[in-house]
Amino acid sequence: MSAIAIDRPAPDIPGRHNDVHLRNAGKSYADRGRVVRGLAPISLDIAGGSLVAIVGRSGCGKSTLLRLIAGLIDPTAGSIEIGAAALSGPPDQARYVFQDYGQSLLPWKTVMQNVEFGVRHGFRNQAHAHGSTPSESLALVGLAGTGDRYPWELSGGMQQRVAVARAISAQPSVLLLDEPFSSVDALSRAQLQDMILNVWGAIDVTVVLVTHDIDEAIYLADRVIVLEPEGAGIGADITIDLPRPRHQIETREQTNYLAYRRDLFHLVTGE
Ligand SMILES: Nc1ncnc2c1ncn2[C@@H]1O[C@H](COP(=O)(O)OP(=O)(O)OP(=O)(O)O)[C@@H](O)[C@H]1O
Ligand SMILES: [Mg+2]
Repeated sequence: MSAIAIDRPAPDIPGRHNDVHLRNAGKSYADRGRVVRGLAPISLDIAGGSLVAIVGRSGCGKSTLLRLIAGLIDPTAGSIEIGAAALSGPPDQARYVFQDYGQSLLPWKTVMQNVEFGVRHGFRNQAHAHGSTPSESLALVGLAGTGDRYPWELSGGMQQRVAVARAISAQPSVLLLDEPFSSVDALSRAQLQDMILNVWGAIDVTVVLVTHDIDEAIYLADRVIVLEPEGAGIGADITIDLPRPRHQIETREQTNYLAYRRDLFHLVTGE
């Protein structure tokens, strides 16, 4: 697998349209008369244009955090901002890619129609230098020429690429990925990881990725946030200082990479 060239602006410019801020934001769910803690109030600033991974044990609040940023659920404490705007309901600038691609694509529409759906029902972000048309979005995820096929004619990995193409065709400021590769085989997963790096390198988008896979988090991210079990909040916040472009073999052989892997394993498992 070849390395991917990334030419992008520095992620730490203050006050960007795609910065994400959580200000003491948390979520409790009401569940059959009980209050369940989804995520204790946390404060978190994500630099516009960065790629942040969220890891932690099952039930620690990863999806809750992502849904809060997506405006799919309202916080029961605190507030969230994208750019300078406080969230109130799903923001136009954010797009969410779900784990289960099988349920997220419309089977009676072609690949191109599925991607166009994202444009028609999405906000087109004027801040983007690279306007991507639906066919450019498909090319960016490595699916040029598949526009007239149907989702059910494609492999699982290809379907998830369509879901990503649809999300980016709306030119979001923030792309939220909830375990997007967990239903595909290991080789497809590595290719999808590189596809995400390719997309992220080509457009000015903040990516927040939830994953169970510590290796995936380190390989992709600038920063890995570890959530404490049972929604207790942020346990660790680690900057990943590995050179880009990243490479499936060489990056994973670096001494730093192995040290991050060891530290994160201990932090996530508590062992
Ligand atoms: N709609 C809901 N109603 C009640 N409780 C919920 C709801 N959604 C999540 N929870 C609870 O909130 C907590 C955090 O859930 P969340 O789905 O955010 O965890 P997660 O880290 O994404 O887990 P997983 O790795 O298994 O996907 C869990 O205890 C869960 O049962
Ligand atoms: Mg989850």
